[in-house]
Amino acid sequence: MENSTPVKIVETVLRDGHQSICATRMRTKDMLPVLEQLDDVGYYALEMWGGATFDSCMRFLNEDPWERLRTIRQHVKKTKLQMLLRGQNILGYNHYADDVVTEFVKRSVANGIDIVRVFDAFNDPRNLECAMKAVKAAGAHAQGAFVYTISPYAKDSDYLKLAKEMVEMGADSICIKDMSGLLAPYAAYDLVKALKSEVSVPIDVHSHCTSGMGSMTILKAIEAGADMVDTALSPFSMSTSHSCTESLVDTLTGRPRDPHIDINKLYPLAEYFTKVKASLAKDFNLNTNIGINPQVLSFQIPGGMLSNLKKQLAEQGAADKYDALLKEMPKVRADLGYPPLVTPSSQIVGSMAALNVMVGRYKMIPKEVKDIVRGKYGRTPGPISEELKAMILKNGEQPITHRPADDIPPQMDKMRSELAAKGYPNASEEDVLSYASFPDVALNFFKNNR
Ligand code: CO
Repeated sequence: MENSTPVKIVETVLRDGHQSICATRMRTKDMLPVLEQLDDVGYYALEMWGGATFDSCMRFLNEDPWERLRTIRQHVKKTKLQMLLRGQNILGYNHYADDVVTEFVKRSVANGIDIVRVFDAFNDPRNLECAMKAVKAAGAHAQGAFVYTISPYAKDSDYLKLAKEMVEMGADSICIKDMSGLLAPYAAYDLVKALKSEVSVPIDVHSHCTSGMGSMTILKAIEAGADMVDTALSPFSMSTSHSCTESLVDTLTGRPRDPHIDINKLYPLAEYFTKVKASLAKDFNLNTNIGINPQVLSFQIPGGMLSNLKKQLAEQGAADKYDALLKEMPKVRADLGYPPLVTPSSQIVGSMAALNVMVGRYKMIPKEVKDIVRGKYGRTPGPISEELKAMILKNGEQPITHRPADDIPPQMDKMRSELAAKGYPNASEEDVLSYASFPDVALNFFKNNR
């Protein structure tokens, strides 16, 4: 029987859309004038918090991320609000203690979040446990996400196993998180079919257009039975962002998976955000004309990272090493057990590869790389190269095999007293969490605003 369930649309213009196209610089004041209009569209959810928005608010926009959340909640009364959480990394780049993770989730939900998408860069389910438990305890929708990547250790059967583990942890839905546009249309079809036949909870597909395949991927995923898909209004869609909301709605209207969204409600919003994009490009000196890069499929390097690496090499006077670096990246990734390339593993693999081509292979090894080898980021999908292990683990040292956060003592009280000592004895729970996540950035923000 043909599937005639309306597909649910998650609008990402307030988070991943501008994170992908405008370096996460959209300000709350840019969102405010159309929040009621967005609420009125009939989206399943508005993704609007987490990822890089938290850091960017304080670091670049002089905004309190918690205040943004409350403001949006005030104006969006019907539509679910969704955030992206990096599991045990919360919104930062390293592991935090369980009490910080738990409190962060609790305060996020208390301030207005309905759906928390939780993922781990290494797809190690143990790094999701604490966050998932906290989301359930807070009464919100826990979405377990696995990071889609291409490697000898990432088969559909591996993803199925992960999805089932997340459902066992209490996931209310599962998300395929394809941050670099690596998920090809027919691969998406097969993967969604497999998930739909073996997992009982709804399936969400989050795919980017970086390689040029995103819109085809989303359509094949919908044909295979995906329940939700992530899109962005046209000005913040395509290239390194998501498929375009209006085009997808038009494609599906009057067809079996009709999302029942009035496209005439989308056009004025798109017009409004076109102006926002122009003002962000001007105010922050951004190049928003990004385009697509099908070569991503062979390099397996997220688009934004390619340009960063190129810039870094040029700054070191090593611009001529760029081709060598592109060849070195996959080798380093293989040596480190094929982690998916997503924050923070993408940065770690990228800097290691850059050092290798500049000063010689593994002549200088950053702490983060050593920590991966020591098991401190969790289990890598594949085995770590013996050669690298021998260089890092000395005197019989063994990598840890337990959940990395088990070694981190509670941090909240310590953070609270640190803040008090720095002159903020009455800091709110939210401020303590901001400080725990990004100490220097938060302190600088408090200095100007508290
Ligand atoms: Co994304």
